[in-house]
Amino acid sequence: MLKGKARAHTNIALIKYWGKEDEQLIIPNNSSLSLTLDAFYTETEIVFDKNFTEDIFYLDDQLQDEKATKKVSRFIDLFRQQANCSFFATIRSINHVPTAAGLASSASGLAALAGACNQALQLNLDQESLSRFARKGSGSACRSIYGGFVEWQKGHDDQSSKAVKIASDHFEDELAMIFIVLNDQKKEIASRDGMKRTVETSSFYPTWLTEAALDLAAMKEAIAQKDFIRLGEITEANALKMHATTLAAVPPFTYWSSESMRAMQVVRTIRANGLACYFTMDAGPNVKVLCQKAEVEQIKAKLAEHFALEQLIVAFSGPGIE
Ligand code: PMV
Repeated sequence: MLKGKARAHTNIALIKYWGKEDEQLIIPNNSSLSLTLDAFYTETEIVFDKNFTEDIFYLDDQLQDEKATKKVSRFIDLFRQQANCSFFATIRSINHVPTAAGLASSASGLAALAGACNQALQLNLDQESLSRFARKGSGSACRSIYGGFVEWQKGHDDQSSKAVKIASDHFEDELAMIFIVLNDQKKEIASRDGMKRTVETSSFYPTWLTEAALDLAAMKEAIAQKDFIRLGEITEANALKMHATTLAAVPPFTYWSSESMRAMQVVRTIRANGLACYFTMDAGPNVKVLCQKAEVEQIKAKLAEHFALEQLIVAFSGPGIE
């Protein structure tokens, strides 16, 4: 019996990953940069045993169906291959998400599973290799191997596409992110499908690639200088550019709901009134607000004038895989 256990935290991209160069290996078209957060994480335990006759996957103590189990099995196969192991496994994952926020994250899930497999099969992968494995489960998962600021260097093949930690002299400890959870019933387009449609049809996509590279370089400078205002400005602008590409896709689509737009406007108003805060959004209607730890309570109080307290979740910089 081989046993491994790992915990990984989720991350939110400040420079977004949007579009794949290789869909199989999950090589992105652009490099991205994220902040790992403390509030959401996944703990995963895996046991390989020669007497098991199939892979079994429990998520939050619920036995998962064939489709979910298959996805996990395929990912574990990468590790079985590497370790030359043919045992089946039982996987138990717990997603720690405050309240019923509907923010379950594939990033922390796949990163934790990668860490658990690494330990159980005694592969002794270093963090860079682990990030390459996690990448093949879900792109953004490769960034959850590290804490704080992380860059996913797009690379050009399996070996070179990996995440690395960005030296920041603890700048991330001055930051906070407030999640505005918007209970919108709108059906989402999975990030995988949204990216594919954008890459294949959006006339704005080539411009996105040029802009993302410029934004990344500027953001790394802002981090080096601990310039929060610059960091926030680039974060917000980059998210808007990513979401703009979807409007020019064929057929066009958007992840924004009317509530998302209201939240973005509230953030702009709070900022205009003197509190530094900037929004970002991913492949769904929720809005995340980047601010400084020193002002987080003030900004949360302002947001609470427009949203229920249960909709507001505060996160700080979180650690890498444990
Ligand atoms: O790794 P995925 O398939 O969950 O895609 C993530 C896409 C975005 O969240 C929109 C951007 C990002 O870099 O996390």
